Amino acid sequence: MELRGVFTIFWALCLSCLIILVAWKKTNKGGKLPPGPTPIPFLGNLLQVRIHGTFQSLMKLHKKYGSVFTVYLGPRPVVVLCGFETLKEALVDQGDDFSGRGEIASIERNFQGYGVAMANGERWKILRRFSLTILRDFGMGKRSVEERIQEEAGFLVEELRKTKGAPVELTFILSRSVSNVISSIVFGNRFDYEDKEFQHLLWMINQSFIEMSNPWAQAYDMYSGIMQYFPGRHNYLYNLIEDLKDFVAHRVKINEASFDPQNPRDFIDYFLIKMHQEKNNPHTEFNLKNLVLTTLNLFFAGTETVSSTLRYGILLLTKYPEVQAKVYEEINHVIGPHRIPGANDRPKMPYTDAVIHETQRMTNIVPMGVPHIVTRDTHFRGYFLPKGTDVYPLLGSVLQEPKYFRYPDTFYPQHFLDEQGRFKKNEAFVPFSYGKRLCLGESLARMELFIYFTSIIQNFSLHSLVPPDDVDISPQVSGFGNIPPTYQLRVVAR
Ligand code: HEM
Repeated sequence: MELRGVFTIFWALCLSCLIILVAWKKTNKGGKLPPGPTPIPFLGNLLQVRIHGTFQSLMKLHKKYGSVFTVYLGPRPVVVLCGFETLKEALVDQGDDFSGRGEIASIERNFQGYGVAMANGERWKILRRFSLTILRDFGMGKRSVEERIQEEAGFLVEELRKTKGAPVELTFILSRSVSNVISSIVFGNRFDYEDKEFQHLLWMINQSFIEMSNPWAQAYDMYSGIMQYFPGRHNYLYNLIEDLKDFVAHRVKINEASFDPQNPRDFIDYFLIKMHQEKNNPHTEFNLKNLVLTTLNLFFAGTETVSSTLRYGILLLTKYPEVQAKVYEEINHVIGPHRIPGANDRPKMPYTDAVIHETQRMTNIVPMGVPHIVTRDTHFRGYFLPKGTDVYPLLGSVLQEPKYFRYPDTFYPQHFLDEQGRFKKNEAFVPFSYGKRLCLGESLARMELFIYFTSIIQNFSLHSLVPPDDVDISPQVSGFGNIPPTYQLRVVAR
């Protein structure tokens, strides 16, 4: 009996070693990865990296292992980069090496490497150059992007006025308005706020962002090799994104039906022109898949990030009424009660600018960044990362770095002000990331945040229903994104 027990243990040990060896061979592409916690077979560092709170777990490991370390998310090694110097060295100084897009397993089935945000290599370069040009030139000779934002902020103000100071939850009121800015660029028109299809689209975008951030998606990103064969919540996310793709594909068809190459109306039309120009090139990246998925990238990213940041900002202003009062004072002084705020006002409004920056720092909307990979064999800080190694640039670690932000856990607009009250740039302000993959919508987003914030505070005072000190700004879900908590507020006309 005892001998059988010893044999069982012996065989179990042999089997474990074999599994470790197979997993190691499968995932280790050679190289000399930075040290990190010891993984266990298949489960990787599940004991150290919790799927509830991945970012927080990685921050703990950052304290123990320094600014560059390796964790195994399931069987897959991921090199984690923390802190300003490290991120700058990787994403800027060795920008080409670190410019690849890593796989996000939970949405890979939907994108399969198409669309600017998920693409790599030449495809990505072509789509990024094209998208940036269109976003930059859009509105030249027509209405500028700034005018579109101002008009849409005006509609939002009207909508908020209708609440007449009654308690209201702002998620979709804000996202309808914000989304209309990017909609008018990519689809050529804004939607009526009451449009049921539009409302459903926004609900799907919001749900997708929440789903991508919940523990189930984190688990799927670690164990997709197995989980893909089983039913579960990951299929819900897949279906949401497929529905959004269908909507964009339908809009492309509508554009094609009335397409006039001499008179392009929106992003889709400009892309169609390219498709026509390159129709005899079998290797062109201007094809239907890239059109639909790049448009979806812009529509999605252009909606959820800005409206979540606004929602967080509004919450912070109700929690800190003294900050709200100072922003209002500055608006009154520089813009007055009637003129519509514009981008030119920003340099004259250092306090408001600092509050918006601090809001973005605290909001930390994409705490782990969007995954990267190294595009070739890469030497970094004495380690060797073989081509294709996954890299997480932990943006949140920079936004909370005590060396750059005196009170990292506190809402403190003075992080962005000098002694004379002038706006002070802070190089560790990285919510849009760094380097070659820097957010493609950064300037649009910054203009939107400024015009929306100032338009709202110019017209309304914001009040929480609970005492300001009790407003809890912890995210309702934290994973890929930090999803702001939902709150009933009162928006009172001035
Ligand atoms: C507060 C607002 C926003 C924040 C905080 C934000 C943040 C980010 C971050 C962290 C990335 C990943 C960068 C990387 O891979 O290192 C990114 C990428 C991207 N963003 Fe934004 N974003 C915002 C608004 C927007 C808007 C308005 C648009 C629409 C035009 C947009 C479009 C994109 C696209 C297309 C990418 C992928 C770029 C690429 O892979 O080359 N974003 N954004």
